[in-house]
Amino acid sequence: MNIDVRNFTRRFADRVVVDIASLHIASGSIVGLSGDNGSGKTTLLRALAGLDENYQGEVLYDGRPYSKRLAGSIVYVHQQPVMLRRTVYANLEYPLKLQSLDPAVSRAKIEAMLDRFELRSFQDQRATRLSGGETQKLALARALLRKPKVILLDEPTASLDGRAVDDVLDILLDYQRAEGATIILVSHGEKDIRRVARRIITLDRGSIASDIEIASQRL
Ligand SMILES: Nc1ncnc2c1ncn2[C@@H]1O[C@H](COP(=O)(O)OP(=O)(O)OP(=O)(O)O)[C@@H](O)[C@H]1O
Ligand SMILES: [Mg+2]
Repeated sequence: MNIDVRNFTRRFADRVVVDIASLHIASGSIVGLSGDNGSGKTTLLRALAGLDENYQGEVLYDGRPYSKRLAGSIVYVHQQPVMLRRTVYANLEYPLKLQSLDPAVSRAKIEAMLDRFELRSFQDQRATRLSGGETQKLALARALLRKPKVILLDEPTASLDGRAVDDVLDILLDYQRAEGATIILVSHGEKDIRRVARRIITLDRGSIASDIEIASQRL
């Protein structure tokens, strides 16, 4: 799905926090979004996700404004994901319940995801007791089970160790290739961004300070 932002301004109590005249994100691309603390990354992502509509300007998905029909296609993975106070398995079951799948199909999808993220041994553990890194992996697994067309990731690798970062970035790349999803990845780690994104946008106090195309190291 193509994303277009036009004449976008978000204020909090009269203070302009994000101000973007024009931004186009091509369908099927992976874009890195960086910038200092408070530069507006989360604010922008929340608006793109349809979680915040108190902005001026336009956000368009394939040329049309956000509406409920897009709710299942656009997922936002929070900086500090919130899990249901139930098992890891139940947290993964939740998005699939909305798709009314055959129970056996549903179980197979969940088990494949548990294996992919190396969370199988935690499946019966209460999700709210996972470590920070395990929680981030579970949040991403839960998001992917919804088969999104747009994935907005707010620092998905912040609590992960080196190997887990590699695993998670590989899973994302595979998903993007298989489904042609559009992915925006917020990260303070330039190295992580460069591994998956061909384009890096940097925000500085709410404005686009740089927008560069890079040759991916992996392709
Ligand atoms: N609900 C709110 N009310 C008032 N100010 C807010 C609100 N949300 C964000 N801000 C302010 O907007 C600015 C941008 O915040 P935002 O969370 O988008 O930054 P960020 O780039 O995601 O930072 P970080 O790297 O720390 O996550 C900050 O100065 C923040 O204090
Ligand atoms: Mg943030």
